[in-house]
Amino acid sequence: MSDPYFYQPAQGHGLPHDPFNAIVGPRPIGWISTRAASGALNLAPYSFFNAFNYTPPLIGFASLGRKDTLVNIEETAEFVWNLATRPLAEAMNASCAAAPPEVDEFALAGLTPAASNIVAVPRVLESPVSFECRRTQIIRLQGASGAPTDSWLILGEVVGVHIARALLRDGVYDTAGSRTILRGGGPADYFEIMPENLFRMKRPSYP
Ligand SMILES: Cc1cc2nc3c(=O)[nH]c(=O)nc-3n(C[C@H](O)[C@H](O)[C@H](O)COP(=O)(O)O)c2cc1C
Repeated sequence: MSDPYFYQPAQGHGLPHDPFNAIVGPRPIGWISTRAASGALNLAPYSFFNAFNYTPPLIGFASLGRKDTLVNIEETAEFVWNLATRPLAEAMNASCAAAPPEVDEFALAGLTPAASNIVAVPRVLESPVSFECRRTQIIRLQGASGAPTDSWLILGEVVGVHIARALLRDGVYDTAGSRTILRGGGPADYFEIMPENLFRMKRPSYP
């Protein structure tokens, strides 16, 4: 690796496809359900998504532009994260349609809204794991110059967790058996978690 390809993103990557999100990948998917102040339901996937804290548990995702999900969370301060799995991949993809705010992507994707226990936003019944969340912060992202972008980071505290009992093996959450899907790069790449890809490594103790 003595001669890496180098580019400065502000001046373009010069490659057939922007490698950025193919490199930072595969990424977990924030499959986010929300409800507008009007009551309309919304569901959409966000792969600029991750977990950021244990206590309290915090998750976040970025809206590139002012999308319905962002507007709904501004209005109601609640959202639900749903786990996207291989059997739900096509429905997850269908839910990303750029539909107007009044369109319910649960219906569009053939999914069932199930009442949550704490928040007024439903979870995806078909998804094996859901987090009920309350908004903690919405941060408009900026570049190194301080110039604001048209992107917003939405953070929320997980206040309720639903886990399908089939994914609790002797009480331990079975990531390897979850068939979780993750987003790769390019227009269409995804990865599925497979048990054979699991390896274990403990943190070193010091001294
Ligand atoms: C797998 C996947 C990941 C996506 N990740 C993002 C993302 O991180 N940020 C974003 O703004 N849009 C993302 N999108 C596009 C949104 O899902 C799409 O714009 C959607 O229409 C937004 O819906 P909403 O307006 O109902 O919130 C993604 C789409 C897919 C299929």
